Amino acid sequence: MNKKRCAVVGIGHRAHSWISQIVKTYHEQMELAALCDPVLARCHDANEYFGAAAVCYDNYDRMLAESTPDIVIVVSPEHVHTEQIVKALDAGCEVATEKPLCIKAEEAVRILDAERRSGKKVFMGFNYRHIPLCSKIKEVILSGAIGTPVSADLTWYLDYKGHGASYFRRWHRIMAKSGGLLITKATHHFDLANWWLGDRPESVFARCSLNFFGKGKGKFQGTRCRDCAHKSECEFFYDIKDSERKSAELGYQVNTVRDYEGDGCVFSDEIDIYDTMAVMVQYKNGAVLNYSLNASVPFEGWNLAINGTKGRLESKITDNKPSPGWQEKYQIAGPTGNVLKGKGFRITDWPADYSIHVMPHDGDDYQIKLPNIADGHGGGDFKIFDAIFNGTLKDGDPLGIYASAIDGVSSMIVGAAANQSAASGQPVAIKELLGIWG
Ligand SMILES: NC(=O)c1ccc[n+]([C@@H]2O[C@H](COP(=O)([O-])OP(=O)(O)OC[C@H]3O[C@@H](n4cnc5c(N)ncnc54)[C@H](O)[C@@H]3O)[C@@H](O)[C@H]2O)c1
Repeated sequence: MNKKRCAVVGIGHRAHSWISQIVKTYHEQMELAALCDPVLARCHDANEYFGAAAVCYDNYDRMLAESTPDIVIVVSPEHVHTEQIVKALDAGCEVATEKPLCIKAEEAVRILDAERRSGKKVFMGFNYRHIPLCSKIKEVILSGAIGTPVSADLTWYLDYKGHGASYFRRWHRIMAKSGGLLITKATHHFDLANWWLGDRPESVFARCSLNFFGKGKGKFQGTRCRDCAHKSECEFFYDIKDSERKSAELGYQVNTVRDYEGDGCVFSDEIDIYDTMAVMVQYKNGAVLNYSLNASVPFEGWNLAINGTKGRLESKITDNKPSPGWQEKYQIAGPTGNVLKGKGFRITDWPADYSIHVMPHDGDDYQIKLPNIADGHGGGDFKIFDAIFNGTLKDGDPLGIYASAIDGVSSMIVGAAANQSAASGQPVAIKELLGIWG
C-alpha cells in the first residue's frame, strides 16, 4: 500500500493524540513526514516521545514546499487555521483540521474558495459526532422515532476549576485568538445541534457575560501561577509542572509541551471572552435551538432534549468533578476507567454507561443504554482517527458522520453570529454575516 505522507502543524497538546495514532496505529497507511511549530523544540520532543523521525520545521511555507505532504493536519490555535488550511489546499494537499474550522465569516469564504479552486477537500475534525452516544441520538432521529425535530434544549457545563478554568489560563482567553468559548468550544455543540436537527442555522440571538473569571472577579490577581505571590492562598493556583508530572504518571499520551504558558492568572485583565452564554438559534426549516454554556459549574457535562413532531428524546452526560466536596462521593479514576487511590489525581467519575430516553407520542417510552468510553473524548477520537486514516466510513456513512468544510462553517458561523449579537444586543441573520449563505 502506498503510504500517505502526512504533516502535522501546531505541536501542542492535541497534536500528541494525532501523532500517537499515526505512529502507533496507522503506520501502515500513513508516514509521519513533517512536524511544524514556531517552538521547534516541541517538534523534536514529539519525535523523541513517539519514536518518530519526522523532519521538523518552524516555518510553515518551507515545510509545505520541502516535505510535499499528501495530507496536512492542522492542530494550531484557531486564529491561524485559515492561512494554514488555504496554503495546504493551494499546495495540492488534503487537509484534516481540528475544530473550529476558523473564527470569522470572511475566513470561511477563503477556505471554501480554496477548496473549490484546488479540488482538494477539508475533513473537519468533529470528534463529538463520533461519540457513540451522539451517533446514537442521530440514529434515533433518522429512525423517525420522534418525528421531525422542531426544537432542542442544549445546556453545556464546564467545570470551574479544571477544564473550564483552563480556557482562562491559556491563549483561548483572548477573543482574537480563539473566537471565545462560543467558537473554540461551542463549535462542537453547534455542530451536533445542526447535525441532529438536520438543518441550517438562519438567525442567532445571544446574551453573554464574563461573571466568574477575568478582571476584578477574584480575591487575588497575578500574571502566571508559577511565579505568583498568592500561590499559597489562591484556590485557583495551578501548579503546571506538578500537573504535567501527574499526567505522565496517569499514562496520558499528552505528555509535556515544553515551556507551555498554561498557567496564566484566571483573573487577568487580558481575558476578553465570556464565561456565561445564552444563545437562541432559528433554523431554516423552523426548528429552534435554545443553548447555554457556563464555565463556573462544579462538574462538567451536558443536558439535552430534542422535541419532534412525534415525540421527544432526552440525554445527559456528567463527568469531571473537580471541586473538593465531590471528592468523597466519587471514585478517583484514570483515563481508562481504572480506579486510582490517593488524592491529588485528577478527580473523575466515569459512569459505566449513558442513556437516551425516547418518549414517542403514541407508544411507551424506553431507554437506550450505551457504554461510556472513558478515553479519547468519549471514544469519539478513536472513531474519527479511523475514519480519517483508514477511510472506514467512506463506503457507508448512513448517519452522515463525516464532516466537511461546510459543516465547519455552519457551526463556526453560529458562534460568530452569537458573539456579534452579544456585542450589539441585536439578532443577527447569518446571511448578513456570510453573504454566500443560501
Ligand atoms: N477536537 C477536540 O476535542 C480538541 C481538543 C483539544 C484541542 N483541539 C483543537 O486543537 C487545536 C490545538 O489545541 P491545543 O489544545 O493542542 O493547543 P496548544 O496550545 O496545546 O498547542 C498549540 C500549538 O500550536 C503552536 N502554534 C502557535 N502558533 C502557531 C503557528 N502560527 N503555526 C503553527 N503552530 C503554532 C503552539 O506553539 C503550540 O505548540 C485547537 O484548534 C483546538 O481547538 C481540539
